[in-house]
Amino acid sequence: MTLVELERALSLARLGSDWVALIAQYFDCHELDFGHGTDNSGDEAYWLLRYLQGWDNAAWERAPDPALIPGLSKIIQRRVAERKPLAYLLGEAWFAGLRFVVDERVLVPRSPLAEIIGRGFEPWCRLRDGDRILDLGTGSGCLAVAAAHYCPGVVVDAVDISAAAIAVARTNVAANNLADRVRVFQSDLFAAVESRYRVIVSNPPYVPDSRLCGMPREYSHEPKLALAGGPKGLSLVGEILAQSPQYLVDDGVLIMEVGEAYEAFTTEYARLPVTWLDFEHGGHGAFVLTRDELTGYLTG
Ligand SMILES: C[S@@+](CC[C@H](N)C(=O)[O-])C[C@H]1O[C@@H](n2cnc3c(N)ncnc32)[C@H](O)[C@@H]1O
Repeated sequence: MTLVELERALSLARLGSDWVALIAQYFDCHELDFGHGTDNSGDEAYWLLRYLQGWDNAAWERAPDPALIPGLSKIIQRRVAERKPLAYLLGEAWFAGLRFVVDERVLVPRSPLAEIIGRGFEPWCRLRDGDRILDLGTGSGCLAVAAAHYCPGVVVDAVDISAAAIAVARTNVAANNLADRVRVFQSDLFAAVESRYRVIVSNPPYVPDSRLCGMPREYSHEPKLALAGGPKGLSLVGEILAQSPQYLVDDGVLIMEVGEAYEAFTTEYARLPVTWLDFEHGGHGAFVLTRDELTGYLTG
């Protein structure tokens, strides 16, 4: 299907669902990768149309406005030619039901940890008012903002080594009216961290160096600092494991995603008694570990 054919078909279609199907069909003709907030062409097409309609439910119920076609075509053309994730083209991403401003300074939010955070970290941790949460490697601030949103009694520190990411995270904290409970600051892992936390949550970079070059082009638009995890993908993961006990309260937990470094992790840390998390909405490679379990391993 060519862009002209798509435009013609859209101008004849009367339902939002028809537009979504047509756009998805166009995406499918161009071998795009869908790993940045959606995992299929239909969801991405829906996202694009709803964005163009201003997320207005009434507009979605009506026949789509043909005046949307030129703008839609421009975005679709760039999506295909540049292989840029849709989130960067729109300047927005959705995570845990919340909207985030994103651009190439930060990873596109997509961690399956959204599910655990949306449940207020239960059953892994029953948070008490005043508990502190640390988001290590905050990027857009998505984990930190979602944690503060779904756990109203807690305060959150969000750190990143990247000054550019910090700026984006601060925008998202302000946009979600959470500046009174989420503090964002620059830190190389724990270097500038002074508190102890009930939960340390982290989605660190974990792509093994050898895999970076072979990834779909979409990933080349993301900061290398957000992806590159060293030879086995475990460089930062190992540091976080080693240092976390010092920054967790006695009944604290570490919740970390290691994604595609899962196999390397299970080999390297075969004796570490982690509990792997199950996700209803997809995703894998994230675990929970209590401070006691971690110190037992590190001192054993
Ligand atoms: C995989 S991204 C995760 C971003 C965000 N938490 C999310 O889930 O979308 C990893 C983040 O860790 C940050 N980072 C990399 N090395 C770091 C370090 N030594 N100390 C702190 N943050 C670091 C990167 O800048 C990046 O924002």
